[in-house]
Amino acid sequence: PPSDVMKNEPDTDFDLPQNQEWVRNIFAKWKKSSSDTPEIIPLQIGAETIVCEKRHKYMDRCQNDEVCICEMSQAGTEQVKRIIDIAEKDPAGWRNTTLEERHGIMFEAANRLGDMRGDLIGSMCAITGKTVVEGDVEVSEGIDYARFYTTTMKKFTALHDVDITSKGTILVISPWNFPCAIPIGGIVAGLAGGNTVILKPATVAAPVAWLFAKAFWDAGVPKEALQVIITDREALKELTTAPAIRHIILTGGTDTAQSIARTNPSTPLSAETGGKNAIILTASGDRDHAIMNIVASAFGNAGQKCSACSLLLVERSVYEDKNFQDKLKDATTSMKVGSVWEAGNIVGPMITNRNDKLLQALTLEPGEFWLVPPKFIDEKQYILAPTVKWGVKPGSYSFRTELFGPMLSVACIDNLQQGIELVNSLDYGLTSGLQSLDENEQKLWKNSIQAGNLYINRGITGAIVNRQPFGGMKLSAFGGGVKAGGPNYCACLVKITDKPESN
Ligand code: SER
Repeated sequence: PPSDVMKNEPDTDFDLPQNQEWVRNIFAKWKKSSSDTPEIIPLQIGAETIVCEKRHKYMDRCQNDEVCICEMSQAGTEQVKRIIDIAEKDPAGWRNTTLEERHGIMFEAANRLGDMRGDLIGSMCAITGKTVVEGDVEVSEGIDYARFYTTTMKKFTALHDVDITSKGTILVISPWNFPCAIPIGGIVAGLAGGNTVILKPATVAAPVAWLFAKAFWDAGVPKEALQVIITDREALKELTTAPAIRHIILTGGTDTAQSIARTNPSTPLSAETGGKNAIILTASGDRDHAIMNIVASAFGNAGQKCSACSLLLVERSVYEDKNFQDKLKDATTSMKVGSVWEAGNIVGPMITNRNDKLLQALTLEPGEFWLVPPKFIDEKQYILAPTVKWGVKPGSYSFRTELFGPMLSVACIDNLQQGIELVNSLDYGLTSGLQSLDENEQKLWKNSIQAGNLYINRGITGAIVNRQPFGGMKLSAFGGGVKAGGPNYCACLVKITDKPESN
């Protein structure tokens, strides 16, 4: 039987020669060429699949958008109605399974996800331009989620001596930047409580979800209990407003969460949204260590993480130190940038070359200058080398706007207190970091900073399931900021019944 002790899944050791060979094989399979026939992904309606005329086309941006990777069928309104009806009726009786049975199925799914690690990584490289290393970490996180939520449900029911029953159907809307881990987290959280789940992954990354869904179906989740679809705009409205949907789990933009909450105020919404995350470096911080953490947090996944460090606030004596500036510049420019089909590249393409917020921030306001100027390295401008803007003023566009790209804005602060006030003046409150070796500063910062996940003297991305439950406050969270990968995440997705007295 699966263990109730949660162990995090280890990542791949890419220093081992056999794993480097494994990566070459992944690339050989997933780097498509224009002579390959693209896979046509059907639309799933319960246990049936159909190929639709309306399809989204996926192009490889590391190959100048010239190679089609696959096409995926899109549901229209009538099809969405059928999908919702199946989820609501639950013909395969998922809601009648026991928690113990679901626990076993989720652990089996976790094993199967492990078996398909190479393909999941390959599909993320191709579809979203993620690097192998970033993709690998994500598969581990997905596996952790698959094991975690039924484990926490079991502990919850035992601790409180209660029974749980499904609420019905959960709609999971997931983002493109973590196309594997985040949707897996959402669907497992829903399925753990006996709910049926409709997963609507971000269209631009959805083939990754189509791939991992197989792990769940093959492990024993009925196709009627887990439906994975993309829709056109009209059908999406049908989905998000359907009365049969008892809870919506969203990871995505703040605007999307606000719009769902407005159009469907009676359906509970747990949403993790945007972030404008800052690291404060004080004069008592270890500068070399800080730089390592700053560049990893700012430029990992080309800065396209809701948790990314996009603002650096530096205490004046360090800010004005030429040696510090040079080291930050060197660390930034030494990151290898380019196609993800070359394993050594750390920063790959962005999901779009039309990120208007980022493009606007790539201009200078008075007083700002480039420590590392912006440089696109490909013709289509998908790949932006890590960029550092210096002299950013509080309240300016770059200071306050979530950019979702590999650009770091640096501002000067007189002291920690001022830094805390500036961070707290931002609309968001997701992750936050402090680089300081002074315990009093650490205590002050912890007690006053307004963000959900705090990290001291380390990077501020890459929360690990069960160890760093993840979720924010202010505009970064809707529905109370319940933390993904934490012990109580599933409790809002089930009905809870007191056990009858035994005599
Ligand atoms: N959980 C991710 C991180 O911590 C973001 O979604 O980076």
